[in-house]
Amino acid sequence: MFAKKTYEQRRNKLSRQVKSGLLLFLSNGESPMNYAANTYRYRQDSTFLYFFGLSFPGLAAVIDVDEERQTVFGDDVGMEDIIWMGPQPSLKSRCAKVGIAATRPLVELSGVLQQAVRQGRKVHFLPPYRGENALWLEKLLGIRAGTVKDYASVEFVKAVVAQRALKNAEEVKEIESALTVSAAMYREAMAMAQPGIYEKEIAGWIEGIALAGGGQLAFPAIVTVHGETLHNHYHGNRLREGDLLLIDSGAETESGYASDITRTVPVGGRFDPVQRSVYEAVLDMQLTAITMIRPGVSYRDIHLKSAAVLVDRLKNLGLMKGSTAEAVAAGAHALFFPHGLGHMLGLDVHDMENLGEVHVGYDDKTRRSQQFGLAYLRLARKLEPGHVLTVEPGIYFIPALIDQWRNENRHAAFIRYDKVEKFRCFGGMRIEDDVLVTPRGCRVLGPPIPKATAEVEAAVGGG
Ligand code: GLY
Ligand code: MN
Ligand code: MN
Repeated sequence: MFAKKTYEQRRNKLSRQVKSGLLLFLSNGESPMNYAANTYRYRQDSTFLYFFGLSFPGLAAVIDVDEERQTVFGDDVGMEDIIWMGPQPSLKSRCAKVGIAATRPLVELSGVLQQAVRQGRKVHFLPPYRGENALWLEKLLGIRAGTVKDYASVEFVKAVVAQRALKNAEEVKEIESALTVSAAMYREAMAMAQPGIYEKEIAGWIEGIALAGGGQLAFPAIVTVHGETLHNHYHGNRLREGDLLLIDSGAETESGYASDITRTVPVGGRFDPVQRSVYEAVLDMQLTAITMIRPGVSYRDIHLKSAAVLVDRLKNLGLMKGSTAEAVAAGAHALFFPHGLGHMLGLDVHDMENLGEVHVGYDDKTRRSQQFGLAYLRLARKLEPGHVLTVEPGIYFIPALIDQWRNENRHAAFIRYDKVEKFRCFGGMRIEDDVLVTPRGCRVLGPPIPKATAEVEAAVGGG
């Protein structure tokens, strides 16, 4: 939790940005795993956390912009809760720490909102992503849960994004502390990448490090010898000499800030010559992208430059041909790089994705492409100082996609399908780091995690 004035400043700035009406914030509830009392680890909604810093369920908050009133609605625990949870600080004392003096019982929320609606005042709310909160909004505002998202306030969304997108020094420090945990996770994971070990052993070990860091994983870890499956959460394979192991994981600090790192390592500690060439191509894509990051440059242009590096490298390997610029314009590279270069990072690993990528990664001047590959780019807009984003290019050989494109003869002017065939069992590689946009350029955040081939081989071989 930050100092009281951080939350006060954030809320006051928000109130100035939204012209009038009531801003409604809902906390996340507990989320059951398999029956009501057996819950997942509690995770507060990130926007609630950002503006109110309170990380427990059963809360709502209202900022009355016109009357300059900020109220948290919630209840103190009763004896039954104390028996199971132990004594808890009062709501008033918790709210005082984040600069909120006015608290009211949760049951009064509905009356406050209904009165505002009767007076013809606007109640701004954010699009819900949990079913329970969609139902809660239905109850509070009388809008059917199935359609409530359509009534979310774009003005409120834009004001929240405008603030949360720009990380200040204390937030960057939190992200770097998540990255310090990541560095420990990768040190262990790389050393464990030896023949005979199961993916699940590494997955379990690194999750333990994230928990021991005081937080948790920022998202379920990807630890796989099938990196060509982008979000592969199966951990049952046994590592063999010669496999490539892709590990994409992040830590979340106690305060909720995330890291997001990917490394691809050779099991046993030696890249073979072909693996080395493909790895160096991915690294070139990433380092080229990082050198371009500075205010005023659009992330779409950086994504496309990274794609051009890929095409040049694959031409050298004999897998692509023709004009690099034309291949990228046509989207031919997406056979090997079918996702975007990165996304914003903050309190969410895909920061604010629940508020709509169209408002986070795009803006009025930057529209999403419909082209396969480029359409998955989560961040395309011009960069500003304070943005924190991931840079995560990859090269993948996805057999089903290769077969589909070859059968259609898709982009045959740029792809040498006969040569690609030899790579169909290669797998996939990705390298991901987290980068802060600074006034003049950028800074790769966190302690260094082995990335050059020799460093990666040493980190694995040293195990
Ligand atoms: N693991 C999700 C991502 O890197 O975006
Ligand atoms: Mn990742
Ligand atoms: Mn990522």
